[in-house]
Amino acid sequence: MQIKKFSWFFTLAIALVVAMNVLVTACGGGSTDTAGGPQKLVMGTSADYPPYEYRDTASGSNEIIGFDVDIANYITKQLNYTLEISDMDFNGLLPALQAKRVDFVMAGMTPTEERKQSVEFTDVYFEAKNTIIALKGSNLTKVENLVGKQVGVQLGSIQESEMKETAEKITGINLKPLNKIGDLIQEIKSKRIDAAIVEDTVAKGYLAANSDLEFNVIPSEGPSGSAIAFPKGSALVKPFNDVLKQMKDKGEIETLVKKWFDKEA
Ligand code: ARG
Repeated sequence: MQIKKFSWFFTLAIALVVAMNVLVTACGGGSTDTAGGPQKLVMGTSADYPPYEYRDTASGSNEIIGFDVDIANYITKQLNYTLEISDMDFNGLLPALQAKRVDFVMAGMTPTEERKQSVEFTDVYFEAKNTIIALKGSNLTKVENLVGKQVGVQLGSIQESEMKETAEKITGINLKPLNKIGDLIQEIKSKRIDAAIVEDTVAKGYLAANSDLEFNVIPSEGPSGSAIAFPKGSALVKPFNDVLKQMKDKGEIETLVKKWFDKEA
């Protein structure tokens, strides 16, 4: 009798431990800290996109900073995670997410239908428009002006896919996809390409640093703006969306928009 009671107690204890473990693993998307502290989430980004995410070369720290980084820090802190940032080419972000090398992607990324086939997005947290960047006085103000020109786009971006579609309709536009936005800018300055298609908010920053360039906003047909990407079915989408909503309601997003975007205007 005594033994039976004892083994029952044991079975119950083991079942409890197992259940708790399952619960802990199900809740988190990240890896557990060995010390039992807060779990870590790894954010994949492409730090070539000021003011969303870029290397802080001005301070010499070379740390990745920006609008997206501030939002990611805010959300992960609220949800009791620590944040680690993994920098890579924009084109490698979604593969990294699908291979679970990163827990989420924040890179000024637009939630397109095509991407939604393989990943899941939060709500949009900031809107953007496309522009044509070119040397001052080039008079490349609309896509029709790009016929016969070399036009740079970031590899894997919506600017690339949208311009591919445009180039099918308007023949004579030559696309040159490159990995980094900074390379597109350098190619324009050294006249190896005539123009590049870049979002307005990012174009402004590069223009402030390069007085020989100008940009013109062009109408974009497809989706625009930025959202946070997760692997399909991730349990983190809902809590991230909840905090994003809180940030919008409390004016936190507005404060960060002022901090990062207004100084460029
Ligand atoms: N919004 C565009 C896209 O989703 C461009 C984003 C580029 N982001 C970056 N960090 N370079 O395709």
